Amino acid sequence: MMNYPIVRNEKYDFLGQSYATNYPNLHKYPATMLPQIGIEILKEFNISEGRLLDPYCGSGSSFASALECGISEMVGFDLNPLAILISKVKFTKISIDLVLETKIKLRNEIFEFIKKEENLHILPLPNVTNPTFWFSEDILHNLNILKYFIYKIENLTIRNFFTLPFSETVRECSFTRNNEFKLFKMKAEDILKFNPNVFGVYFKKLNDMIDIYKYVYLPKLTNDTNVNINYSKFEVSENSFDVVLTSPPYGDSRTTVAYGQFSTLSNEWTGIDYARKIDGLLMGGIKSKNIYKSGLMHDYIAEIEKEDKKRALEVSSFYVDLENSIQKIASTIKKGGKSIYVVGNRTVKGIQLPTDQFIAEKFEENGLKHIVTYQRALSSKSMPSKNSPTNKTGKTLNTMLFEYIVVCEK
Ligand SMILES: C[S@@+](CC[C@H](N)C(=O)[O-])C[C@H]1O[C@@H](n2cnc3c(N)ncnc32)[C@H](O)[C@@H]1O
Repeated sequence: MMNYPIVRNEKYDFLGQSYATNYPNLHKYPATMLPQIGIEILKEFNISEGRLLDPYCGSGSSFASALECGISEMVGFDLNPLAILISKVKFTKISIDLVLETKIKLRNEIFEFIKKEENLHILPLPNVTNPTFWFSEDILHNLNILKYFIYKIENLTIRNFFTLPFSETVRECSFTRNNEFKLFKMKAEDILKFNPNVFGVYFKKLNDMIDIYKYVYLPKLTNDTNVNINYSKFEVSENSFDVVLTSPPYGDSRTTVAYGQFSTLSNEWTGIDYARKIDGLLMGGIKSKNIYKSGLMHDYIAEIEKEDKKRALEVSSFYVDLENSIQKIASTIKKGGKSIYVVGNRTVKGIQLPTDQFIAEKFEENGLKHIVTYQRALSSKSMPSKNSPTNKTGKTLNTMLFEYIVVCEK
């Protein structure tokens, strides 16, 4: 049953375009939203000022969209430390001269240090789970040296900038299969051929990142730009935002996109000791004891329950969390303000769950009015394939060929 009409809108397909077309990302992140979508929808509704909230900001594509439209005040939240690091680096203004100076200093310090053979294995190893399973002995020590010198950078903003390419270096120099979101080890024969140069990989990534930051992000950050990114669950302050622009998760992390697992090695190397528990902290992560029964989602979950009660409970946890968060988010939107959610309708046990309808329904229950839902063809978002335990990058779920842009107004 379709309570909230859906309009197919090809303008939002951006066929053939990727994230990198306008805003190359500084670091890989799963299920990013195309900034082009945010730009187009903000323009369509003439939103070019006020305060913007993204309660699930990930790597920050909504902020890229908002900046392009002239919005300068933004607030974001996420529970994945890697997401926060990426977003902070992208939207914090720093001096390129200082970055270049620091790069030369870092190179020299590392070069001097590794000249002496006795230094190569001298530093205590970091607290990483099962290190020799994921890294060769040499790579482990070289990453450790790199981290040691990056962490000597006193200025936190500059240190964050240098930590981002370190995070990608960790992933790329590990035995993880790089084309998958989840942590899977390479085959033995691939490991035999695998011998990356940690310092080479790092400085190449750093140089690329400096270029992207300098030419894409920095020019957009004016003295008025204020992007406040918080490593926490969304906290409420009522009637304080003019617009919410977000792409929330499509389901619980474990069975849709495992943001935590994707980020595990990076998070562990940057000192997060609960890195392996993050997926359980995200939306839908704590299993519900009851089946979700209210509103339009009732019939769909009841269908799943007939086949598999455990899956019906997992799905229920996600919708309970989404409902609670919409309630808080609705209260934080000012009168006349808008909420814009970009979301996919996932399929569980062959049943496609109308998350777009659920979002409209919950916002209406909390004092907003549904304005429009656009359907766009999903072309470039990397999603896990259907029932795949591997979350392979690049495969699209065959039942989720569309995304929905749900717009409501208070
Ligand atoms: C679809 S991604 C957002 C992607 C983002 N638009 C981008 O372009 O990178 C959803 C994000 O929600 C975060 N998340 C999931 N549950 C959360 C919660 N309860 N509180 C805050 N963030 C959460 C995940 O860590 C993930 O980064």
